Amino acid sequence: MDATSQRFLMCRPTYFAVDYAINPWMDPTAPVDADLAIRQWEQLRQTYRELGHTVEEITPVPGLPDMVFAANGGTVIDGRAMAVQFRDPQRADEAPAYRAWFEAAGFEMYDPKHVNEGEGDILLVGDLLLAGTGFRTAHASHAQLQEVFGYPVITLQLVDPRFYHLDTALTVLDERTVAYLPEAFSPGSRAALRRLFPDAVHATMADAEVLGLNAVSDGRHVVLPAQATDLAAKLRDRGYETIGVDLSELRKAGGGPKCCTLRLRQGKAGK
Ligand code: ARG
Repeated sequence: MDATSQRFLMCRPTYFAVDYAINPWMDPTAPVDADLAIRQWEQLRQTYRELGHTVEEITPVPGLPDMVFAANGGTVIDGRAMAVQFRDPQRADEAPAYRAWFEAAGFEMYDPKHVNEGEGDILLVGDLLLAGTGFRTAHASHAQLQEVFGYPVITLQLVDPRFYHLDTALTVLDERTVAYLPEAFSPGSRAALRRLFPDAVHATMADAEVLGLNAVSDGRHVVLPAQATDLAAKLRDRGYETIGVDLSELRKAGGGPKCCTLRLRQGKAGK
């Protein structure tokens, strides 16, 4: 299996906190170790660098504790960036901050017409865009994604509030392979996933409950929460190299490695 070197955008959790609850993982009364959150995030960044990936950083904004979850900052494919529109007012101001970063970095910008939480709900697998809906990203935004990027969009209905973003329920392993938690999807979406990916890795509830599916793959190495031991074993059986990282503090906000990471995809011709 070949690893492809990637360019990622990350946001240091300088102002990270759990001040509000917009998903079932978040308990504003539970303690969070802010320094540990930063150290764990730095370890994730270091892991990517050691794998040969490039990490760019956006400056964190005070008062936006969830800005660390860069996957929600946009969808970036072939040099085009679609900005985001959050469902919840607590995260609304992250959208212009990320938009300004993409614009300054030279991406061709598109603005969302409906709620769209970026690559939290939108995952490119080969030439297919898998698009989640049910909790955050509006179904109507899926049609806009197809118009903007020109990849066929497959709508997937999420049904478990703990797995509120598609990237908490499904991992892209390479151009043809995914891992997912069947129970996180409606019956029709499960059937569609079975048709599209008959060889997919099925994760267990225990893996998903430690956000094990919130993983980042370069096609060969899979960076995933260290606690997802069953999933890691299944991936190694399939020939992937797994690298466990501990993001226990960010998990208290409902996020794992993939949430902290936005892949910046240039065009195939490098534009
Ligand atoms: N607290 C954040 C929220 O609920 C976590 C976002 C996690 N991001 C992700 N890509 N799944 O919006």
